[in-house]
Amino acid sequence: MSTPLVTSRPLDEYCALFGLTRSALAALPGPLLDCPGGTAGLAAEARALGVTVIAADPVYTATPPQLAALARAARTRMADRMVTAPELYPSPRARPTERYLRSWDRAHALFTADRAAHPERYVAAALPRLPFADGSFALSLSSYLLFAYPELFPPERQLAALLELVRVTAPEGEVRVFPLHDGAARPCPHLPALRARLGEHRIGTEVRRFPRPEDGRTRRVLILRRADHRRRSAAPPRP
Ligand SMILES: C[S@@+](CC[C@H](N)C(=O)[O-])C[C@H]1O[C@@H](n2cnc3c(N)ncnc32)[C@H](O)[C@@H]1O
Repeated sequence: MSTPLVTSRPLDEYCALFGLTRSALAALPGPLLDCPGGTAGLAAEARALGVTVIAADPVYTATPPQLAALARAARTRMADRMVTAPELYPSPRARPTERYLRSWDRAHALFTADRAAHPERYVAAALPRLPFADGSFALSLSSYLLFAYPELFPPERQLAALLELVRVTAPEGEVRVFPLHDGAARPCPHLPALRARLGEHRIGTEVRRFPRPEDGRTRRVLILRRADHRRRSAAPPRP
């Protein structure tokens, strides 16, 4: 079973993954949940925009040196994968590998400083159970976990995790999940069944495509909203 990498994506990469913009984040009417947060720079960088981000991840029980070692290992693994499985990533011409990995180094440095200054914003917690009250967040983001590691999140656990993300998100807010494929780029085979199950819980789902400017392809993001809430003022405006 593969162990999830502890990755250090910067805010701009999050925006690209989820079809968001800095101005959409700045306009959020409440806090943002990043689960799993990994060693991302999102919380630190979003604070500069006036957004409160709470990052949740079981790895936050680790000490700073342990986290630094995990982030270094993830960087090395990513550098290897970009060479050994280039078909999974935008071409180095469109996105130079070293520049990309340096953006992770910067994000990791921001994470380390921000976690030391604001430890209360980094909560040790594991899906499918989160220690937050109902409706705490205007927007919840979940990247590179629920579909990327199907051995950790088989269908029932995946459903439970998605329901939990919806529970902690404001009724008029939304949950965004990316990617919808595993680590070998195989699309989730039971996505239609999963969406039907979510529908039984009165959760509306949409798979929205966002452009991937690096190579002209698109990213598919799963968006979840409570079906009985028509008002969407807490959701980020469409870019
Ligand atoms: C590939 S990273 C993704 C981090 C970040 N969202 C990103 O896009 O870079 C996967 C993360 O999932 C975390 N993780 C593993 N099991 C988890 C669980 N049950 N609930 C929440 N996070 C978990 C790991 O500790 C790791 O930091």
